[in-house]
Amino acid sequence: MSFDPNKLPPRPELFDFHGVSMIHYFTDNWENVQDFQARPDDILIATYSKSGTTWVSYILDLLYFGHTGRQTSVPIFKRVPFLEIIHPALGSGKDMADNLPTSPRIIKTHYPVQFVPKSFWDQNCRIVYVARNPKDTVVSYFHFGRMNTLEPEPGDWSDYIRRFMDGKMVFGSWYDHVNGWWKKKQTYSNLHYMFYEDLAEDTGREIDKLCSFLGLSRSDEEKKRVTEGVHFDNMKKDKMANYSEVPIFDFKMSPFMRKGKVGDWKNHFSVAQSEQFDEDYNKKMTDVTLQFRTEI
Ligand code: A3P
Repeated sequence: MSFDPNKLPPRPELFDFHGVSMIHYFTDNWENVQDFQARPDDILIATYSKSGTTWVSYILDLLYFGHTGRQTSVPIFKRVPFLEIIHPALGSGKDMADNLPTSPRIIKTHYPVQFVPKSFWDQNCRIVYVARNPKDTVVSYFHFGRMNTLEPEPGDWSDYIRRFMDGKMVFGSWYDHVNGWWKKKQTYSNLHYMFYEDLAEDTGREIDKLCSFLGLSRSDEEKKRVTEGVHFDNMKKDKMANYSEVPIFDFKMSPFMRKGKVGDWKNHFSVAQSEQFDEDYNKKMTDVTLQFRTEI
């Protein structure tokens, strides 16, 4: 499938949905998604957009199903469906999740914690939350907005940072998202909260932690294979992982696997923008137990 801008609907508008900025592609199927019937062994990967969702999806998929060969024939967005999406060219994530043939089913969501369908909690499903520092997240989201025709137009970079700080992004405020999920972790023990920066620093160590959370025993050799398989350079050239099969992405604007670095924000923020951002961050992020690293 190739990108044809003439065959695509116009970019969507943001609107307020239960207090969170959203676009209709993620709310049109709301009732059905809320009724989703989770199974006890389902695994939910939850993230704010651009925080390493695809990376962790690939890790989990390889840990569970790496030996089955589907990594050469089924793209990652079909292996790990995006629960709340509904789109003419991409289908319904909820239907894809319902029809997943695997056990366990690995499902992704960008919902803030209060939007997660009740059955995930009732079934005590394992949930992996991935968070990324906001400066790299906003840079990544900006470039994603340029290439993803499902996103509202990103516009000018300095306006974009302002909108990010104001929470006027698809899936709402990054600050509310990471804090909401962090708070949930205090009462819901089946939640593994991890950081993009830790994964970048030592992928093997983070895979060990994931295995222990998921109750998986994998040989050193298998874990090494997964670590190598999910290296940025390998995922970038892997058609099953780099989203090159997705018809709504304009790769002339930016690749999906863009840089994969911690600290790329330094190439985008001016000194003044960085200072303003930090000042605003310190006002919003008052829980000292939740710490982000903007460099490693
Ligand atoms: P950049 O735009 O900074 O490069 P998500 O999957 O949540 O949409 O996140 C996408 C971001 O994760 C992109 O960041 C992408 O390059 C990065 N990413 C994806 N796979 C990665 C990997 N294997 N290693 C490092 N970063 C990765």
